Amino acid sequence: MPVTGHIALGFQLFNSLYLCVTAKAVFAHFMVQNSYSYTKDDWTNDIKAAQAIGIDGFALNTAVDSYEETKLVDAFSAADENSFKLFLSFDMTYSWQADDMVKLVKDHASSTSYYKWNGKHLVSTFGGDTEPNEFWETFKKDLKNANIPISLAPAFINYREPEDASHMFSNFTAIDGFFNWWSWPADEKEDLDTDTDLAYQKAISAANRSGPYIMSVSPWQFKELGDGQDWVEQCDTLWKYRWHQAVVDVKPDIVEIVTWNDYGESHYISEINPKVNLGDLAPLYVDGFNHTGWATMAKWYITWFKSGAKSGPTITKDRVIFWYRAHPKDITCDQGEKPRNSELPEDAVFAVSMLESDANITLTVGESTATFHAAKGIANGSVPFSKQDGHKPVVKIVRHGEVVKKGTGEMAINTTKCGYYNFNPFVGVLE
Ligand SMILES: *[C@@H]1O[C@H](CO)[C@@H](O)[C@H](O)[C@H]1NC(C)=O
Ligand SMILES: *[C@@H]1O[C@H](CO)[C@@H](O)[C@H](O)[C@H]1NC(C)=O
Ligand SMILES: *[C@@H]1O[C@H](CO)[C@@H](O)[C@H](O)[C@H]1NC(C)=O
Ligand SMILES: *[C@@H]1O[C@H](CO)[C@@H](O)[C@H](O)[C@H]1NC(C)=O
Ligand SMILES: *[C@@H]1O[C@H](CO)[C@@H](O)[C@H](O)[C@H]1NC(C)=O
Ligand SMILES: *[C@@H]1O[C@H](CO)[C@@H](O)[C@H](O)[C@H]1NC(C)=O
Repeated sequence: MPVTGHIALGFQLFNSLYLCVTAKAVFAHFMVQNSYSYTKDDWTNDIKAAQAIGIDGFALNTAVDSYEETKLVDAFSAADENSFKLFLSFDMTYSWQADDMVKLVKDHASSTSYYKWNGKHLVSTFGGDTEPNEFWETFKKDLKNANIPISLAPAFINYREPEDASHMFSNFTAIDGFFNWWSWPADEKEDLDTDTDLAYQKAISAANRSGPYIMSVSPWQFKELGDGQDWVEQCDTLWKYRWHQAVVDVKPDIVEIVTWNDYGESHYISEINPKVNLGDLAPLYVDGFNHTGWATMAKWYITWFKSGAKSGPTITKDRVIFWYRAHPKDITCDQGEKPRNSELPEDAVFAVSMLESDANITLTVGESTATFHAAKGIANGSVPFSKQDGHKPVVKIVRHGEVVKKGTGEMAINTTKCGYYNFNPFVGVLE
């Protein structure tokens, strides 16, 4: 019956379009401010490293500096060549003129790597809720008049409380989706919950908007830059439970890893590119504090997120990712101010095991030892710091009494002396 055939075909077409629109994507927030000394090869290296763990693209956090414009040309060119995606994320803590924002989107809109949501160019921000709705309306209209309809999913950072979600959409009629920046506990010991995520995710559809819900997932938050910019949040086990929240509880349209390369806030997951000039202070707590083990962990969660499966992918290689600060929290350092919330993190080595089959994981620092039973798949545990000075954590995977793998963290825990306040952890990998 030809009629039925047509209906079936139409339905199939509808289904595949629908699947195309809702494909889950993972982006990483990229600080273009840190690309000052970048060549195109640096962009290509970052793109390949990100692709190797399943990241689809970068959200380009762009400030107003003119050098960034020339760096973005390299970024889009490198992305085009590697089938990587990019979208602009305006850093609204800088004083952007709407015309300059329109120009920058126009400059790159025809690039094959510019990411589209629902057929429209995706544009995001950090902040921007201090601008009135008219600002965003004009910005969108100018682009639409240039034949570039956009989907605007900003991180309006003053919107964090779940109960403000519907207000935000009625106040800002111009926005299509939302990016929840808040991926750390708010100055408290308690783990972060998903109330904000679920409220803003729901508010998008309740307000009949068509933009994505972008959920941020971050491993850490610490900065020590003086002038009141000294703080840490309680992130000891955040990287594992936040990913779990994203994959299992929230299932956002897009996960945005915060960040790829914001070294100064200690939430980078990329290798530290030694070319990047971080000023005088950030290197004191960034240099030597490798975070790439967190990227290895993310790869597993990214695969799971995209699969939509009930449980995570099968693990075919035993690994333990572990992280720890280089000093106990009560130590007095020669320079800097004790960061706000310094009492919140535990003085401990935190470990996440990713195993082919069950094992016991033994963690040792000096005279302090703990063992946790780790089931096949992913599990976590920790061991308190030793009071003794200068020990490096030792991690063992033990099966039926036999040590299968053993490794030592490169960074010693210094309990007696500290040059500059540092709550940025070193991340090690046993594999
Ligand atoms: C705009 O937001 C404020 C603060 O959240 C709220 O009090 C006000 O009711 C909102 N306006 C509208 C029209 O929703
Ligand atoms: C959204 O659309 C539905 C169905 O068209 C309508 O009933 C509802 O009032 C709309 N909500 C808003 C906030 O516009
Ligand atoms: C594992 O992490 C969770 C938070 O995700 C924490 O509540 C729990 O105590 C940790 N388990 C161990 C054994 O450390
Ligand atoms: C602790 O740090 C101080 C100052 O940098 C250094 O002199 C000392 O050797 C360190 N202790 C250990 C055991 O590494
Ligand atoms: C882990 O340790 C417990 C207690 O010693 C032991 O009963 C169990 O067999 C061990 N599991 C494995 C997989 O080695
Ligand atoms: C960072 O750690 C990873 C995993 O342990 C390692 O492969 C890489 O070489 C380290 N990078 C540096 C610069 O030491």
